[in-house]
Amino acid sequence: MPTLIVVGTQWGDEGKGKIVDVLTEKADFVVRFQGGNNAGHTLVINQKKFILHLIPSGIFHPHTICVIGNGVVVDPEVIIDEIEKLKKEGLDVSSQKLKISERAHVIMPYHKALDLARESRAKKNKIGTTGRGIGPCYEDKVGRRGFRLIDLTKPDFFREKLKVYLEEKNYYLKYLGAEPLDFKEIYEKYVEYGQYLKPYLTDTSHLLWEAIKQNKNVLFEGAQGTFLDIDYGTYPYVTSSNTLSGNACCGSGLGPTVMNKVLGIVKAYTTRVGEGPFPTELKDELGEYLREKGGEYGATTGRPRRCGWLDLVMVKTAIRLNGISCLAVTKLDVLSGLDTLKVCTAYKIGEKTIESFPSTLDELSQVTPVYEEFPGWKENLSHVKSYNDLPKAAKNYLKNIETYLGVPIKIVSTGPSRENCLFLEEKSLF
Ligand code: IMP
Repeated sequence: MPTLIVVGTQWGDEGKGKIVDVLTEKADFVVRFQGGNNAGHTLVINQKKFILHLIPSGIFHPHTICVIGNGVVVDPEVIIDEIEKLKKEGLDVSSQKLKISERAHVIMPYHKALDLARESRAKKNKIGTTGRGIGPCYEDKVGRRGFRLIDLTKPDFFREKLKVYLEEKNYYLKYLGAEPLDFKEIYEKYVEYGQYLKPYLTDTSHLLWEAIKQNKNVLFEGAQGTFLDIDYGTYPYVTSSNTLSGNACCGSGLGPTVMNKVLGIVKAYTTRVGEGPFPTELKDELGEYLREKGGEYGATTGRPRRCGWLDLVMVKTAIRLNGISCLAVTKLDVLSGLDTLKVCTAYKIGEKTIESFPSTLDELSQVTPVYEEFPGWKENLSHVKSYNDLPKAAKNYLKNIETYLGVPIKIVSTGPSRENCLFLEEKSLF
């Protein structure tokens, strides 16, 4: 089957958007299957910068159909704003080009209010969420009191349910010290959003199934990263969905037998936003240097990202959790100019050496990274056109990563533009 799942192997922000954008040249469909507008992709196309939160980057390719699967949580305000902005740029964002699952859950105003109120009350124990209402929306989905996009197109049904749900949410908001929300305002706005989005809504599982039967190339684009997964991430400092490749099935309504390859994206160093443990974090000038050179500020919230050395214990664990069959290494250019590069290949807890990511924060807080060192390179990589032209030390760095992980590197990214993408073999991974 010509299907490919792309996932992040770290804490998100690995540069998936750029790789997906390049791979989309050969994709007929690009599918988002989890998360919401907590994600953010920065893309540079013809020297112009675009930030997308919900719509897959396939929107920039004229032949690709973009799909938002049932596993995504959709903030109607955000998606409508994104559609309108892209239209203004002259892009085709018609209902032929963008398909949204009618089953996708809706982020309601009270989800955002609850997210913010809880975080501000939690103070020391806050998760450091993006404040976009992601967690509360998934809670309501699992609690069977959520709205699906299709519900917004049925005003009577929506009105009755909203009355019941909002009463409970307002009670809770007041308890958290936040302002209660107005029923009429939400009802009228969201019915309008339903009308706007109605042409885009469809049974995307059925659509994708037909595409796969016709041998179309389908790319599944993961959001966030492996260690933000609700089950396998650094719980509770995680997002509220399964970010692992397995969720490409449930989040798009397809079975595992249609999935073929899984591409894991590895940033050449490690970053994380929000709270939570980070064994290889550099809290010194070097961390600051990586942040500035790598432009490590959240695409969604603008928050500075914490930076550290590449942690291969994490990536190796991500390979197992996602069934990763090949890798793309991104932002290699950011490491240019450093004399020595360090890579974490194991953790030590006391005298014990471990090579798998621990399940508890307690254990994680006790680990000391074991590093291997490699010589750096001075050359600027932005004009490198092929893998063979990379400096010897850069190739050595990559070769060692590949050998340790036992999975082939197929793509190396050396800058933000489409042109800064070196393919080690053929240009299609399908
Ligand atoms: P939430 O997804 O907004 O609930 O945030 C939960 C955690 O996931 C926080 O630490 C966020 O910073 C992090 N997070 C959510 N989305 C992303 C992303 O796209 N990239 C990196 N971190 C993210």
